[in-house]
Amino acid sequence: MRKILIVGIGSGNPEHMTIQAINALNAADVLFVPTKGANKAELADVRREIIGRYVTNPASRTVEFAVPERRTAERTYNQSVDHWHAAIADIHARLIAEQLAPGQTGAFLVWGDPMLYDSTIRIIERVRALDTVEFEFSVLPGITSLQALCAAHRIPLNLVGKPVEITTGRRLKESFPNKTETVAVMLDGEQAFSKIDDPDAMIYWGAYLGTPNEITISGRLSEKSDEILERRRHAREAMGWIMDIYLLRKGADFDEA
Ligand SMILES: C[S@@+](CC[C@H](N)C(=O)[O-])C[C@H]1O[C@@H](n2cnc3c(N)ncnc32)[C@H](O)[C@@H]1O
Repeated sequence: MRKILIVGIGSGNPEHMTIQAINALNAADVLFVPTKGANKAELADVRREIIGRYVTNPASRTVEFAVPERRTAERTYNQSVDHWHAAIADIHARLIAEQLAPGQTGAFLVWGDPMLYDSTIRIIERVRALDTVEFEFSVLPGITSLQALCAAHRIPLNLVGKPVEITTGRRLKESFPNKTETVAVMLDGEQAFSKIDDPDAMIYWGAYLGTPNEITISGRLSEKSDEILERRRHAREAMGWIMDIYLLRKGADFDEA
């Protein structure tokens, strides 16, 4: 039986790697590294650096594969993601069948943790459903960008005894400020925070967390919104890409809101 390891590699700093993740990479015959077009070359570079730094198994080899772009024209968001996953599942099925002999192990290096806004687990399940190649799989956790954000700002994620919501920029207005007091926002291409008008809201923002280009800004949203927009725009222009995440918060520990 082939074996697949879905390994969380942390969110930018190679030192996020857990000992369990390092051991998993060293147990693999093949290390699968996704590449995502030139502007995300740095993300593939972090994976290569991790392999160079921690993999001591001389028998293992790295196989890089291109991830197709998601097409959005003439389809709903759900259709677009579904078609995209189907295309990636076909690529994964081929990689597993062609690059691994029965009895061998392959590891997919997943940014952050595989359970958080990442579809590797559901794509691997999809590959299993195709029934073209037999394998078992395990998941190894990693440091998420949300953990990296809270650590960078030296804040706890939740207020005492209160809930937290994790959402995307596209859906932020459904959650904050009316539904949940602490909301973490990922995958925000529209800077949804800048459309929130609440004098009590605080923002804790971070870009390129864990990397040498890390930027963090925090404070009252009404006072920091423009500064974040400006820094974000500059950084994106200079680097050619950006990954950012933020926490919005109202209220305080021990209040009864
Ligand atoms: C496809 S999701 C992957 C999340 C990842 N699985 C995790 O555990 O953090 C990509 C989003 O995660 C966030 N992200 C990931 N790494 C980041 C980093 N180093 N700095 C800031 N945001 C990051 C951004 O919101 C980005 O749009």
